[in-house]
Amino acid sequence: MSGLFISFEGIDGAGKSTHIESLAQALEATGRIVVRTREPGGTPLAERLRQILLNEPMDAMSEALIAFAARRNHVEHIIRPALQRHEVVLSDRFTDATFAYQGGGGGLDEDFLSILEQWVHLPLQPDITFWFDVSPEVAAERLKGARLPDKFESQPQEYFAKVRAAYAARMASDASRFVPIDAHQSPQGVWEQVQTALAKRGLLAA
Ligand SMILES: Nc1ncnc2c1ncn2[C@@H]1O[C@H](COP(=O)(O)OP(=O)(O)OP(=O)(O)O)[C@@H](O)[C@H]1O
Ligand SMILES: [Mg+2]
Repeated sequence: MSGLFISFEGIDGAGKSTHIESLAQALEATGRIVVRTREPGGTPLAERLRQILLNEPMDAMSEALIAFAARRNHVEHIIRPALQRHEVVLSDRFTDATFAYQGGGGGLDEDFLSILEQWVHLPLQPDITFWFDVSPEVAAERLKGARLPDKFESQPQEYFAKVRAAYAARMASDASRFVPIDAHQSPQGVWEQVQTALAKRGLLAA
């Protein structure tokens, strides 16, 4: 059994967190050890960087540099060691989110992000990336009143349309890694899509 790295992507309110826990439990039931983690964050240093990134105003390049500094710490201290122990890592967001938010949403040059990606963690990439695709309208409806919005969650719907388009472009550039999920469906419908994708790869019972 080898390590398995799965990331969950999609705009705020797409349903990532809801389904990470279901998947963690299903994988644990098969006997795997599962590490649940998130970005930005996942280590004490990266969690401190998360607070700065989500709350302090700054330009998109500064955000990307902080995101990759946090990611470096997360990869070296949590993700790589867990994979070396042949565990499963479920990460709520990873590098695709920086391409989507700072690249798509913030207009930052994708070539710059590719260079950071190269230096910080390539050739390590998630084995599977679930992209929870949902319209900004539906996502906003789900988040209404759920919690106090952070800097990104307070952005207008046009911003999330750009983030969504950047996720789509990222998927087109690495189609074999991505599993698109129609996140408009009911929680049960979304879960079935996740389960089917893993069953197809022999990672869960069909
Ligand atoms: N398929 C679904 N249909 C309806 N509501 C859903 C669905 N999935 C999740 N929700 C609800 O929508 C809200 C947002 O879901 P969740 O927190 O899982 O999204 P998220 O992608 O993790 O968002 P964020 O990026 O902001 O953390 C929650 O209140 C959740 O219960
Ligand atoms: Mg979440």
